Amino acid sequence: MMKGKWAGALMAAVSMSALATGARAQELNVYCSMQVEWCQGMAVAFQAETGIKVNMVQKSVGETFAQVRAEKDNPRGDVWYGGTQDPHLVAATEGLTQEYTPKALNNLHPWAQNQWAQSKKRSVGVYSGALGIGFNKEVLAKKKVAEPKCWADLLKADYKGEIQMPNPNSSGTAYLAIATLVQLMGEDQAFDYLKKLHANINAYPRSGAGPIKAAARGETGVAINFIHDTVTEQKAGFPVGYNAPCEGTAYEIGSMSIITGARNLESAKRFYEWALQPAAQKIGHEVGKMNVSPSNTAAEPPSGAPDLSRLKLVNYDFIKYGSSAERKRLLDRWEKDVNSIPR
Ligand code: F6P
Repeated sequence: MMKGKWAGALMAAVSMSALATGARAQELNVYCSMQVEWCQGMAVAFQAETGIKVNMVQKSVGETFAQVRAEKDNPRGDVWYGGTQDPHLVAATEGLTQEYTPKALNNLHPWAQNQWAQSKKRSVGVYSGALGIGFNKEVLAKKKVAEPKCWADLLKADYKGEIQMPNPNSSGTAYLAIATLVQLMGEDQAFDYLKKLHANINAYPRSGAGPIKAAARGETGVAINFIHDTVTEQKAGFPVGYNAPCEGTAYEIGSMSIITGARNLESAKRFYEWALQPAAQKIGHEVGKMNVSPSNTAAEPPSGAPDLSRLKLVNYDFIKYGSSAERKRLLDRWEKDVNSIPR
């Protein structure tokens, strides 16, 4: 449901453009891989400002990637907005997305420009955030269990049946978590870790924000998720906290790409340019208390956005973990070695 100034502006914009032209309205199909409030906020604001009708589909990153790939010969989406960098890079290497050089490129932080360079101009960074361990303070206190600070803590018997991690087949957050553990520990040790972790997991929700939403509502004690999604729940008043894992963690480059064969290419480019402007980069926080760091250097990060420069980060190999074969191999291995084990 749209509320407030965007709803009013949208109605005004839609009726004015219809009255003024009488022509067939321009449209834009956005595949959006972030939390739904944020996606809706973007769609409403863009439509209000441009009069271009936005059809928005929200799905997790892995699911959006699967859809873009399935529609390769008959593309239905124009822009893929948001989500972790890896599937955007896989899509770029498979030619599912197209080259575009945004006018704002030089106004973006280096990590956002890196995504453009490493995708060979087919994707760009819109926001960033870091992976962490979230928890419900009240649930843990009731169980007399300490808050987890390290990846290693999550294997303790104290957390048996208390942890949720998203499913890496659908969630970009979870794929990034697996790639991070592989880079921190080495692949065999990481899979050994994931097998032991599996014994403490109570569910693998579809979306990256699923585990912390469940923790916020007391349905689980611990979540593996992006720190900014924990801050969102904190700002909504839930008794949650987070730690950046002591061994090290990774950051995401929340990305955006134009789909190859986009039927509404001019509108897609207009959205792409618009989404890189400081005003558009505030919308996630305005409508849904999202706490990512924006990619435009002139955009102020929200107060709750974690400072990446203070975190211990792995030197993430974007090219390797954004390659089609590596992603498939790691997902297959997780399915076979971890998810198939009875809990
Ligand atoms: O809710 C926002 C967010 O956590 C983004 O930071 C991230 O890119 C995206 O969701 C990942 O979603 P998923 O893990 O569901 O694919």
